[in-house]
Amino acid sequence: MTTMTRPVALPPGPAAPRAVQGAYALTQPLRGMRRLRARYGDAFTVNVPIFGNAVVISDPAEIKQLFTSGPELVDNLEVNLGRVLGPRSMFALSGDEHKRQRKLLVPPFHGKRLAAYERIVEEETVRELATWPEGTPFATLPSMMRITLNAILRAVFGAEGAEFAELRELLPPFVTLGSRLAVLPITKRGRFNPWRRFEKMRREYDAIVDRLIAKASPDGDDVLAMMLQSRYDDGSGLSREEISDQLLTLLTAGHETTATTLAWAVERLRRHPALLAELETGDSKLLDATILEVQRTRPVIDLTARQVKQDGFELGRWTLPKGYAVLVSIALIHDDDAVFPQAAKFDPHRFAGARPDLYQWIPFGGGTRRCLGAAFATMEMSVVLRTLLRDFTLVPTTEAGERWHSRGVAYAPAKGGRAVVRRRSTGGDS
Ligand code: HEM
Repeated sequence: MTTMTRPVALPPGPAAPRAVQGAYALTQPLRGMRRLRARYGDAFTVNVPIFGNAVVISDPAEIKQLFTSGPELVDNLEVNLGRVLGPRSMFALSGDEHKRQRKLLVPPFHGKRLAAYERIVEEETVRELATWPEGTPFATLPSMMRITLNAILRAVFGAEGAEFAELRELLPPFVTLGSRLAVLPITKRGRFNPWRRFEKMRREYDAIVDRLIAKASPDGDDVLAMMLQSRYDDGSGLSREEISDQLLTLLTAGHETTATTLAWAVERLRRHPALLAELETGDSKLLDATILEVQRTRPVIDLTARQVKQDGFELGRWTLPKGYAVLVSIALIHDDDAVFPQAAKFDPHRFAGARPDLYQWIPFGGGTRRCLGAAFATMEMSVVLRTLLRDFTLVPTTEAGERWHSRGVAYAPAKGGRAVVRRRSTGGDS
């Protein structure tokens, strides 16, 4: 019996050469997507550096179908974040290897373990908020970055030690450079290439992790100890290279995304005084709904990607050839009035008492590759904002909303989520 492959059916798209489309994508990422949607509809074909030929989708049914398709049909992109995080990072793995690693890495970030991290996040928040100036404007993003970096470092490595200070120094420039290199089509050749600096930092990082592995307590309950104890089904453990790449993945994926979302939360809250007043009563359900709405209206990752592995892959209205990338536009589906009525309006009440549909509300991506740290990030954002609103009044503003600013992988508010705050009186303290 012969099987017939259906003829290719691609959505329409611009005909400009790859370099021109790439320049447009780099300089106008979000506006460009909206313009393409206005011109071609909710799916379009592009040709851009890094991804190559790609179909951008934002229709809920097509997104759901993509996220639920097996790895024999669609899987990880061949060009992926493994370029910066290492070949054994979750972001680099596909198929069974990805499944195997995911099974080992999910437990430390779920269930009862999360409750244990709450205390760490609150401690780090209180420590950072103690440095906040009263009555003068300042950007909250640097503070959010320190809180989330320290929180993930402590969750991953347990007790603080000399290596902590070194990682705290090394990681911010390392992550910033890696994040830029991940989205720029720069090869590793040439003497003054930024990859050289990146590789030097990677060697420093590996040396620190080696020392931490040597010191790790065999019965500890931090993520590193759990990784050292974990076994694949065949009884073997994770190699040193696997541990090093996965830890870097967790530290990188786990801090900038959460920090930029928190900076957006501050930016949004200051522009919604009625909501702020409601939150000040300590309504935790409304706080949860607010976090959902911040992530809907200000998703810090605008795209997630898969690659077609079989010719004739049928995706809703389209039939795609092997090798094409499929880019799910998180920003476009979140901004679609047909999916979220009055999508442009920031209104947390739309989520009050309702769980979002996880194929429509997708700041963490979806399916078998959905963000592994989603529950951890949600807990963390909730603890930081709860502590902030407990200890401070955020002074509302009538200034225009902050613009989007690309930091490489994540989008942050352009002014860093500027705030003016007043410390609440604690009654007893003077
Ligand atoms: C607000 C914060 C965060 C956002 C918006 C975010 C977003 C994302 C997105 C969009 C993906 C790709 C999903 C897909 O392709 O379907 C992803 C994957 C991932 N994230 Fe997050 N993330 C956040 C926080 C975290 C944290 C705190 C951690 C670690 C503790 C983490 C670890 C990971 C890992 C390991 C993956 C790869 C999962 C896989 O390939 O199976 N993320 N994240």
